[in-house]
Amino acid sequence: MHDDFDLSVYKIAVETPLIESLPISKHTPNFDVYLKLENTQPCGSFKQRGIGLRCLKAKDDGYTKVISSSGGNAGLAVARSARVLGLKSTVVVPLTTNQHAISLLIEQQAEVIRHGPVWDKAHEYALKLVEDEKSTSCYIHAFDDPVVWEGHSSMILEISKQLPRQPKAIVLSCGGGGLLIGVLEGLKKLNWYSTEVIVVETHGASSFNLMTKSGGERARLEKITSRATTLGALEVAPRLVDDFWHSQFRISSLLVSDEESIQAIFNIVNDHRMLVEMSCSASIAAIYNGSVDELLKSKNIPSGDIVAILCGGSGINMNILDEFKSLIH
Ligand SMILES: Cc1ncc(COP(=O)(O)O)c(C=O)c1O
Repeated sequence: MHDDFDLSVYKIAVETPLIESLPISKHTPNFDVYLKLENTQPCGSFKQRGIGLRCLKAKDDGYTKVISSSGGNAGLAVARSARVLGLKSTVVVPLTTNQHAISLLIEQQAEVIRHGPVWDKAHEYALKLVEDEKSTSCYIHAFDDPVVWEGHSSMILEISKQLPRQPKAIVLSCGGGGLLIGVLEGLKKLNWYSTEVIVVETHGASSFNLMTKSGGERARLEKITSRATTLGALEVAPRLVDDFWHSQFRISSLLVSDEESIQAIFNIVNDHRMLVEMSCSASIAAIYNGSVDELLKSKNIPSGDIVAILCGGSGINMNILDEFKSLIH
């Protein structure tokens, strides 16, 4: 295992900038907002960190092929990591996956198999492929894997070198919770338990929020109704039940609407000239709409630094942006 996981050495992931945001700080008047630019990772999202480390470990373990069933940013990170590490990759995606996502995977030299009407069927097929080739192929889970969490935690260690003081809060999006657990792992390494961790989801993709109301039990959404499909895990990684209910971490859950997330995409373009997908803009939407400021006030935190993770995402282009334009007022 690579203890010192400087993934940039392997050209898998890069150290990303942390920039001050004056325009976004205006929405939290007593706090300075910094953006961790994970959208500048080579495949466009933070997924490159944890999944890159997972693929590196698969190679160390003697596997020659990695298999994923994510047509989104996780699958793209698998495909890119495999190409860079000289492994083969197969990504099984449901028939509904759009051509934009498939082209990005093919560009990274992945074998793309379109199978089944919904993700579950594609996933089952991917597991069958791994079973058929188990001596050579390794399945890479999008978010529920300790090695993936370890890779994502590198982001927090970087922040500790880039920011002169411990942030009062970290704001991030949550799908299955891989990013969130990675952030918690990083905070643990630094003993930064007093940093508020503000977890944002969209209504309709709110599996973490559901778990926070479950009284300490696992909880499962019936379906995903948000357009932010990248955040659309029906259930978060079970490890988060412990982190939320039984740890020293200070974790809060906020929800934003799809419309607020879409509006935030345009605001980020205007404020920073960067284009991100809805799963990423959702967390920034919670700053733009004042709910992060309100939450910190309710916890009697008077001032300090907030780090918002601009997690990125490849699910956006000019065509999608045009469609979004027609949805906001
Ligand atoms: C851009 C982006 N943001 C956030 C998430 C949510 O990450 P996680 O599933 O690790 O919570 C994802 C997941 O694919 C993503 O691609």
